[in-house]
Amino acid sequence: MSEAKFRDIAQLIEARIDEGVYPANAKLPPHRELAAEFNTTPVTISKAYKLLAELKRVESFVGRGTFVIGPSALSTAIQAKDGEGFNFSILQPCIHLNLRQVRQAYRDATETLDVSLLAYAEQSGHEAHRQSGVKWLQRFGVTDASIENTLLTSGAQQALSLVINTLTQPGDVIAAESLTYPGILAVAELSSRNVVPVEMDAQGLCPKALKRVLKTDKPKLVITLPSHQNPTGITMGEKRKAEIAKVMATSSAYLVEDDIYAFLNDEVITSISSRIPDKGIYLTSLSKAISPAMRCGYIKAPLHLIPLLNAHIRAEIWLASPLNFMVATQLIDSNTAFTLAEGQRSEAKARQRMTENILGPFEQTPSGFHVWLPLPPHWSAERFTTEAKKEGITLSSGVHFSANGKEDKHVRLSLMAIASRATFEEGLETLRQLLTKKPLPNVEF
Ligand SMILES: Cc1ncc(COP(=O)(O)O)c(C=O)c1O
Repeated sequence: MSEAKFRDIAQLIEARIDEGVYPANAKLPPHRELAAEFNTTPVTISKAYKLLAELKRVESFVGRGTFVIGPSALSTAIQAKDGEGFNFSILQPCIHLNLRQVRQAYRDATETLDVSLLAYAEQSGHEAHRQSGVKWLQRFGVTDASIENTLLTSGAQQALSLVINTLTQPGDVIAAESLTYPGILAVAELSSRNVVPVEMDAQGLCPKALKRVLKTDKPKLVITLPSHQNPTGITMGEKRKAEIAKVMATSSAYLVEDDIYAFLNDEVITSISSRIPDKGIYLTSLSKAISPAMRCGYIKAPLHLIPLLNAHIRAEIWLASPLNFMVATQLIDSNTAFTLAEGQRSEAKARQRMTENILGPFEQTPSGFHVWLPLPPHWSAERFTTEAKKEGITLSSGVHFSANGKEDKHVRLSLMAIASRATFEEGLETLRQLLTKKPLPNVEF
């Protein structure tokens, strides 16, 4: 047997992982079984598994076997890299469209900066900053937002981690849509919370499935993304929001509504959490409408949770930066923030149309920042993502959005991270060509 054989076998197993033949978290076949398949010895398979463990593709546990390492790394799921190539991965606005107004707002803010804003502030921030947060929230359907129940966070990601860490303990169950934002899965995994997936249908989170999960798994939190759901793009209508609120009303769990894409909706529908004010927590930020670098997030929560959330904010970060909220307040109070949000919505619409012209037609939400792209049968998401990378395209494989790593027939494309429309079009064309190709067969023995 050649010394290199275990390397060849490791390569083949790796290709099977990339193709989804061995999905994330799956147990790999016993040594003897693979040894028989590859006409070799269990020792060679053992060496191949060891090599894959060194490459962080698998993990072995004494007495339990060898498992494919799950897609928990947020930085693999969503890549922020700019510069060379085409970034279809990070979900950010076309920031160059906002640059002039944001620059001006920072200039104006510097002019009016006074000593109070350079100091620590009480609770989670200055009243004027929370008041403008209330204006932003109210505009997008959070009808019960008020200065008393609204807090400032360092982006929506901190808001998610805050509510998870405040309202659950390690080992507790959190229910989430069966396909969801990897930032939620990452917080849950790193803080040892268990995510139970709830089925979705064409209208979003399915009320019947939610009822079932509430009864059988007893989650402490239910997290839902009602607008331009990440990754499926589904937006809940009035009826579905009312149904979810009704199911939650009889449960002891809290509902967390991450509605960061609400400004992209065609119509304003009252938030789910405003329908159940004693158990609905709403969170959002300015990252998608204005700039993720500002790290300005807002939470509206039941009044009885405000002291506890404030205590956690204070213990974790003291308070979110008043300097950035000063700019946010200026942008919101002058209505510039709403104009910029509308500009991003129009750009998203134009890019959805361009995408459909080149790759479509497919199910999409016409003003969303992203597309949940179904792959032809000959491609798995992992293999497609790997091959796209070779063409200079970064995108997000479907496996990262699934709590159990089972989704492997879609990739998520962000339409807004590439600044120039011409480069964006070129990237779409490269993707179209790759979709029509078939992956090369793997090495066979
Ligand atoms: C659904 C969802 N929630 C939260 C976030 C994080 O947003 P922020 O930049 O405000 O932390 C994102 C970012 O992609 C997201 O898609």
